[in-house]
Amino acid sequence: MEESVNFVKGYGKIDPSDDDTTAVHRQSPSPNRRKTLTIAVTVTLLLFAIIIAVTIAAATTAHHQHTKQSQPSQSPSLKSSESIKTVCAVTQHPDTCFTDVVSVNSGNKAVDPVVIFNLTLQLAVTELTNVSSLPKTLISNSNDLRTGSALRDCANLFDDAVSQLSRSVESMRGESVLTVEKVGDLKTWISAAMTDQETCVDGLEEMGSTAVDEVKMKVQRSSVCMSNSLAILGHMDEILEKFGMHLH
Ligand SMILES: *[C@@H]1O[C@H](CO)[C@@H](O)[C@H](O)[C@H]1NC(C)=O
Ligand SMILES: *[C@@H]1O[C@H](CO)[C@@H](O)[C@H](O)[C@H]1NC(C)=O
Repeated sequence: MEESVNFVKGYGKIDPSDDDTTAVHRQSPSPNRRKTLTIAVTVTLLLFAIIIAVTIAAATTAHHQHTKQSQPSQSPSLKSSESIKTVCAVTQHPDTCFTDVVSVNSGNKAVDPVVIFNLTLQLAVTELTNVSSLPKTLISNSNDLRTGSALRDCANLFDDAVSQLSRSVESMRGESVLTVEKVGDLKTWISAAMTDQETCVDGLEEMGSTAVDEVKMKVQRSSVCMSNSLAILGHMDEILEKFGMHLH
């Protein structure tokens, strides 16, 4: 019995203290105000973090720019490859143009856009000369009369194409500056060589020649080379401007 009374008494004692606790709870900020406080602290911390991150980023960039500016001038081979990239950028096949020119750029010396154009011309001549004997080879292997006449036309067209490109190469010998006139002549000759090739393929196609696919495939390289040379000539004004030069 006493135990039970004690328990009740004890309970009674605990009760007010329990009320006290509740009172303390009531005095502390409401859940809503607490939430607002937490958000405010979080936002402030985030803002600090962002400000610090931005400051670090700005400092790093400034440092980078500073080191870039104070770098020594580029190596000759890097300068050459950057020049080739700039010139080749105006072509329809910039990657092929770049790889091809680099492959014939002995000693990585080509920096001048005129010299780089000259290398693309050299490549075009090599490729065209390589395929120019194709029609004659095909004639000797063909019994088809109709195809034979189209192939003979091709042989003449390729002879003409080679002589047009040879004229271009000849005109570049010992030239270090390009004149407006010279650019015009080069465009005419290289376009004529390209037209010759296209006329050959068209003729074979019209005749329904079985050789057409082989010829098409083999003239592709020289077509790309000539189109690169032509594109460079067509943009020579703006290319020279990028190098601080101009047409004479
Ligand atoms: C000439 O063309 C043939 C394929 O038709 C090729 O295998 C060869 O490498 C070419 N040669 C040159 C110098 O481009
Ligand atoms: C162009 O290349 C030819 C060789 O293919 C060379 O004789 C001539 O001097 C070169 N011209 C220029 C301007 O580089």
